[in-house]
Parts: sequence; C-alpha cells; structure tokens
Amino acid sequence: MNAQTSRATRAGGTAELLHCASTALSFLVIRYHHMSDILLSDVFPTDAPVRPREMIGRREDVNAVAGALSDGVHTIIAGPRRIGKTSVCEAALARLRRRGVYVAAVDLFEQADAGELAASLVAAVLANRPALRRLLPGVRSATRTLATAASATVAVKARVELGDEVEMAFRPAIAERHPDRALHGALQLPQRIAHADGRRIVLFLDEFQEIASPRAPYGDPDVLTRRLRSVLQRSPDVSVLFAGSIEHIMRDLFAPSDRALSQFGSFHELAPITVTEWVEGLGARFAVLGLDADEALRRGIVALADAHPRSTMLVARGAAETARREGAATLQAHHVELGLIAALASDRLRHQQQLERIRDLRHGQRIAERIARGEPVYAGLAPKMAASAVAGLRERGIIEQGARRGSWRVVDPLFARYLARLGQPRL
Ligand SMILES: Nc1ncnc2c1ncn2[C@@H]1O[C@H](COP(=O)(O)OP(=O)(O)OP(=O)(O)O)[C@@H](O)[C@H]1O
Ligand SMILES: [Mg+2]
Repeated sequence: MNAQTSRATRAGGTAELLHCASTALSFLVIRYHHMSDILLSDVFPTDAPVRPREMIGRREDVNAVAGALSDGVHTIIAGPRRIGKTSVCEAALARLRRRGVYVAAVDLFEQADAGELAASLVAAVLANRPALRRLLPGVRSATRTLATAASATVAVKARVELGDEVEMAFRPAIAERHPDRALHGALQLPQRIAHADGRRIVLFLDEFQEIASPRAPYGDPDVLTRRLRSVLQRSPDVSVLFAGSIEHIMRDLFAPSDRALSQFGSFHELAPITVTEWVEGLGARFAVLGLDADEALRRGIVALADAHPRSTMLVARGAAETARREGAATLQAHHVELGLIAALASDRLRHQQQLERIRDLRHGQRIAERIARGEPVYAGLAPKMAASAVAGLRERGIIEQGARRGSWRVVDPLFARYLARLGQPRL
C-alpha cells in the first residue's frame, strides 16, 4: 500500500469512527429540535456514569470484564474516584443482560444499613423476572395488569420457590427488623434464582469499600466478608463484580492472606482512555452541537485535563459553553482557555470540600500543595510526620503514586490546579 492509500484508509477509518460516534449521539439530536436546545450536560456528562453507547474508549475493558464474569470469574475494579469505573461495569452488565444473563446491581453509597442493603439486593435480584419486576415498588411497568389477586399469586409463588427473603423486596421494613438474618438470606437469593431459572447471575456491588468504612454501616466488616465468601462459595452460578473507589482499601479487602476475601477474585485494571480516543470522541460531541473543533484544540483540552475522564469532559463542556455563548460555529483557542476557567469555577465548591477533608490531617494541606506544584514533598518536615500525611492523603484518595518510584501526584488534575494556586496571588 503506498503512502497515499494508507493515508486515505486512515482518513476513511477516522471518518467511520466519527460516524459511529455521532450515530451513537444522534439520539440527542432527535430528542431536541435545535442544536442550541441540546443540554451540554447531556453531551458532556460529568456527574453520573456515562451510558454504554456514549462511552469514549474502554471497549477492551468492557469486553474483558463481561468475558470474565460470564466465565464465572469474580472481578474487582479498584481505582480513584471519577475515572469511569461504574461506566465500564454498567456497560459490561448491559452486554451480559442482552445475552440473557441475569444481573443485579447495588450501589453501597445508597444503602444506609444492613437492612436496606438486604432489601435492595433482593429487589435487584427479583427484578430479573418480568412478572416480579412489575410488582416491585418504584419499578412498576406501565402495564399494571397484574394488580390485586394475580399479583398476590405471583408473589406467593415466588416465595414458595425462592424463599421467605423474597418478601423483603415488597416490604423492606421486614429487613429492618432483622438486618443480619435478612442480609444472609439476601446473599443466598442470587444462587436460588439462577438455579431455578437455569441462568447465570452477575451481582454488581458498587462502592464496595463502604463495608470497611469506619462507621461499619453493615456491621463488622470481617463478619460480613466471611459470610459473603462462604455464601458465594456455595453459589456456582453467581459471578460478582466489585467496584470501589478507595483503591488501597479495596486491595486490602481482597489481597492480604488473612482476610476473608483474599484471592477471591481477579483485579481488572482499567486502561487509560487514549489521547486518540479522546480526540475522536470529543470531535463527535462537538459535532453534535454543530461546533467545528480542530484536532489541535481537542488535543489541547485533553492535555489541560491530563486525560482524566471526568476532568476532560468538564473542560470540554466549559469550552463548548463559551463558544455557544459567543454564537461561534468554530471552536477557538480562547474558548478552551475559558473552558478551563469555567471548569475550575464549577468545581470550586467540590474543591473546597476536598480541602476540608485534608485539613484535619497534620500537614495535609501543605503536602498536598507541594505535590500539586511538583515541589519536594518532605523538605523541612519531620520524615515521620510527612509520611503520615502522605499516607492520609492516599487513604482519602487525593493522591496516588506517580510514574517514578516514590513520586506522588494529585489524582484529579483540576483539584491539583486548585491546590497549586492556593496561597498564590490571584491574577
Ligand atoms: N468512557 C468514558 N467516556 C467519556 N467520559 C467518561 C468515561 N468514563 C468516565 N467518564 C467521565 O467520568 C465521569 C465519572 O464516570 P463514572 O461515574 O463511571 O466514574 P467512577 O469511577 O465510577 O466515579 P466514582 O468514583 O464517583 O464512583 C463521567 O460522568 C464522565 O464525565
Ligand atoms: Mg462509580
């Protein structure tokens, strides 16, 4: 192939990719009549998982996670906040569901105690049976033909077949009265339904590190993890997907040999979304808004946000917002610069809250600022004290190990900018 055809093929490939991406986003155009009506938060979501077909990159991750789970391998995704863990997990689940696998997802951030966790688990598991799903509070379908007597029959049949725990889905108060027993029963339900219906079931437990939180919301974490292990060892048709945001807590739960969940599943490390994927993905999004954005500017956005998933989306949104306000049809360099400022402004409250969380660590703020500015971390401080501040920052998910051994970096690049500018004269 000569250089020209290879360039043409590459250009064709890019055009095809852009076409795919904009087809994926075309529902936005269908939903709104005019491009100017399209909500920027729909094109550049930053506070919720991204829907599977809107994800930029991460195809390999979704393949790998879905593959492992359907092979019965429990899988753990541990990583810092806002890097796209839930998006990948939900995409893998959606794919498995399409293939006829049962799925049940529970976000531990939303479960205040063991009783609530039990009731949510049961509801999520039962929702796999359409007849039962229609009866569940909050997820009733439009066709409520099963009301009254017929629905009671379905519920009773399910109870006979699957056990008394089923009732928790309809009457969560029962779980509150006997939370421990309820949770034990709820954990056994996935295998029962999988066995009864001849399906594999995937259980997705998001924000799993919550079980080890100092509040111990679901009781003693050791007791719970031991119970989880013993139930799951007797659940051959259940695969569990664990996701959690405080990386080393997740690793501590699964790795050390004396913990109940040690060696229980296999860790899946999310691949970074590459610059090329970002550049193409952002191009498709700007195109949806009727904005022409040349490649160098899109690269500039990715560089400003360090390719961190949420930050990149936020800066891109800021740039689009600025261009839209000016009525521009082409993205320009100053839109990107102002986009970064808009992103920092919209995150200011979040950054202040994060700062509060590190201020209670002795020297926490000083060390975080040093790391953000790339200054020597330990200079002039007692090594022990500095090391404990570093450990505290890491525990809170603020910093992570850098590329070089012994180096650190602030996980969120926008927070890093905020920290770096603290105490410096404002321009
Ligand atoms: N594949 C992706 N394509 C585009 N944007 C993404 C992608 N993954 C993540 N993001 C961005 O990151 C944000 C957070 O994604 P998600 O909720 O999946 O992350 P998370 O790691 O589960 O976060 P948390 O720590 O809050 O649970 C999204 O709203 C979006 O802005
Ligand atoms: Mg998440």
